[in-house]
Order: sequence, then C-alpha cells, then structure tokens
Amino acid sequence: MARYPDTVQFNRLNRPVGIEWTARNLEVQGTIPAEIDGAFFRAVPDPAHAPRDPQDIALSGDGMVSRFRIENGHVDHDIRYVHTPRFEAERKARRALFGKYRNPFTDLPEVRTVDRTVSNTTPVWHAGRLLMTKEDGRAYEVNPHTLETIGRYDFGGALRSQTMTAHVRVDPVTGEMFFFGYEAGGLCTDDVAYCIAGKDGTLTSEQWFKQPYLSTIHDFGLTEKYAVFPLFPTLTDLERLKAGGDHWQHEPDGDSWLGVMPRYGKVSEMRWFKGPKGVSAFHFVNAFDEGDTVHIDICLTNTNAFPFMHRPDDPLDPRTMTGGLTRWSVDLSDPAAQLQSRLVGPPGDLPRLRDADQGRPYQSVWLPCYDPRIGPPVAGGPVGSCFNCLLYVDVTTGAVLDAMSMGPGYAFNEPVHVPSKTPGHAGWILAVIDHEIDFGHHESELVVLKADAISAPPVARVKMPVPLRPQVHGWWVSGGELATSKHR
Ligand SMILES: [Fe+2]
Repeated sequence: MARYPDTVQFNRLNRPVGIEWTARNLEVQGTIPAEIDGAFFRAVPDPAHAPRDPQDIALSGDGMVSRFRIENGHVDHDIRYVHTPRFEAERKARRALFGKYRNPFTDLPEVRTVDRTVSNTTPVWHAGRLLMTKEDGRAYEVNPHTLETIGRYDFGGALRSQTMTAHVRVDPVTGEMFFFGYEAGGLCTDDVAYCIAGKDGTLTSEQWFKQPYLSTIHDFGLTEKYAVFPLFPTLTDLERLKAGGDHWQHEPDGDSWLGVMPRYGKVSEMRWFKGPKGVSAFHFVNAFDEGDTVHIDICLTNTNAFPFMHRPDDPLDPRTMTGGLTRWSVDLSDPAAQLQSRLVGPPGDLPRLRDADQGRPYQSVWLPCYDPRIGPPVAGGPVGSCFNCLLYVDVTTGAVLDAMSMGPGYAFNEPVHVPSKTPGHAGWILAVIDHEIDFGHHESELVVLKADAISAPPVARVKMPVPLRPQVHGWWVSGGELATSKHR
C-alpha cells in the first residue's frame, strides 16, 4: 500500500486524519454565551489516499466539511468528506488516481474526463445553500444538516464559468453574492467570469473579461460602488503543464495589477492600474469607497509565500520575506490616476472581517500572524508553517489593539466572528487551535473569545476527541440562517 510522503505537507500537523465522525454534547470548559447559536463550518483538506506525486501538497487534499453546531451552550461536531467525483473514483479504486496539484496531464488515463476539483477551500453560505468551493472548479453543494454531498452546483444550470472562486463577497445590505471564476473557459484560459447572484440565489449577471496574464486570482474586493481585482505575477502555462510541471510559478520581475469596474457595470468599463513588481497576496480584508477613491486592504508580501509556487531558480527564502497589511488606493476621478500603496497594519493572513463591514469603511480586523517571541511556528497547514498568534488590529491607526497566543507549540486556524445582539458589544471570535504535543501527535480545540478582549482567558474551550487537520477557511451561519436551508 502506498504511504503518505514524509514531508511537511503530510507530517506533523498535516498528518492525514481521514476520520469521519460525529460527537454530541462535547465537554465545554467555561460557558458558551447563549446568544452564540448557529454553525461554524470549516473546510479541511485531508487526502483520503496517499498521493501518486511524492511532492504533492496539502491543498490537493480531499475536502472535508467540518461543522460545530452550537446551541444553548451545547456543542456538537461532525466532519464528512465532500463526495466529489474525484473522491468517489479514488474511493472505489482504494488508491490515488489523480496526479499533481492542478495538473490534469499527470492523471491516470481512466480519470481524464472526471472532475478533478476537491472542494476543500471555503464553505460558502448563501440563499439557504452551503457550497464547498475550490477555485479550480465549480462548487459542490452540501446539506448543512447532514453534511451529505448533494452534487455539483451551477446555479440551476445558469452558470457558464467552469470555475468559481472560494472568496465570494456577500453584500450585508442587499444580500447579493458577488463572485468570480478565473480560467473560466477551461484550463489555462485568460477568461475571468464576474458574477452576481441575487438574495434568493438566482444568478442575475455573468460577464467575462480577459485578465492581463494567466495569474491566480484567489480573492477580490467589493465596495458599495465597485468590484476590485488585484492581480499578482504568479502565473500558469499550458506547455509547462503538458510537460508535467507545476501549475503556478511566481515571476519576481512581473507586474501586479489592480482592475476596478462599477459593481453593477459592464466589464468593458474595467480600468487597470499597474502595481509594484514581484509582490503577492492571496487574501484581502476589505474594500471601500471614500468619495471617488477606492481602497482595498490586502495581506501583501514581497514574494509568493507558497514554496511550491516558486521557480527552481528562484526558491523561497523565508528569511527575506517582508510584508504587511497594505492599502491600495486609486482616485477614479483622475483620468491619469496611479495606484497608491501604503502600510496600514502588521503582517499576517487569513483575516476575519465583521460581515456587516463588508464593502464599507471599517475600523478593525482579526488577523492571525507569526510572533517570533513565542518561538518557531508549528509545521503544518498549506504553506508549511502555522500562525502562532491572533491580533486585533485597528486599520485606521495600524495599532495592535490586542493579541492572543497560547504559547509555543500552538497553531491558529482562521477564526470566525459572531455578532452580539447586545448594542455596543463587539461580539465573539471562534477559532480552532491546534497543539503539537510531539512530532506526529497533536490535539485540537475550539476556543471562544470576547472579540474585543482576545487576550483575556477564553470564555469557553472545547477539546476535540480526535485531532483535526488544519483548515483553510471557515464560515459562521446563524441559527436563523440555518432555518432557511433549502434542505432538511
Ligand atoms: Fe483563501
């Protein structure tokens, strides 16, 4: 039987778990506030079979959907595989059939026509549906109550794009979901689909545009007036894929770009602004308007943070990485406007914004980061090292308002924010924290923090009976929203 590689992508915190389990009434240390009523959904890549490619990465792992259901202070947990055609085909064969990360030319011939996406990036909730997304394909719908996979989701046959981002933006006032798909016309196409789904989930708009090059577009921004597309020079190439190479290679001398168009406008109105060379960002906190100026706050680094996205002659040296929370701005009233860039906060990634702040001027964000005073980060997660601290940052001043760590050996997953019903109350932060006891042995727990006092002892901790593999992204769905589910 094939073994999982002994690499950072498959050992330590990234050791595959692969256990589907359900637990009711997990032991809660402390008290979960009664107003926290809903479900914390998490996307957890976990390869069900040892990969055929020994250099495979965590992001290739089969998607599992994890759910904490919290109600009246009680916590239940369920985790299930997303039953994509790829997962089903490999389960039947009892071995891996697909090859390298996002290179279908390395798949076995018998699965060349099988959808190879693994739905492992973000559980998206909109209009009563739970969609497990990954940007290389369409979403798969999952029953939010049973976690059973319903099937590939194409908005009732309306979506033309072959892909859908894992980073959608839901307007908190209109309830519309704005999203995009890149490589929309198929592998290594420069087509980008820009889409809007109404509050009821109906696809109301899909327009395609061409991006300046074949880059990874992982996230985008949405203001009250504009859709904002930052692009970075991490590029793909069909001939490289045909030769069995990697999907992505970062080009340190390549330009970055910012595309801006009216959010209800035509893609032909897109204006492109050139940014600094060689930079990279995967996640953006928020975008907003200030008069005719559009701002977008991005977790920017001087190079791509993923080691496997570097050229062999330009390997990643983490010691030379720099970056921080950076605001890109353009004054759209100026026909000759140029992109302005300034630092507005510390380095970090996997930011969590209040849902109500989406697209509006805002003050603060929760931002996982590395604090070197705590000690070396735990190896694991998609980039190979995990955040060891959580910051609460005022983006209007750059000040760190509060910081939370649990000491050496602890790793933060992306948090979610649960708003409070009490006026003036900042709400709650929920996150899974992993603790590496020794190599190959870790424990996981859910912590509940007061959102504006994250350094205070958690108001509740829930120890997991089974370790959890590091998540990518998560989504909080309130009990009221769950009640609107299309499925029972
Ligand atoms: Fe992401």
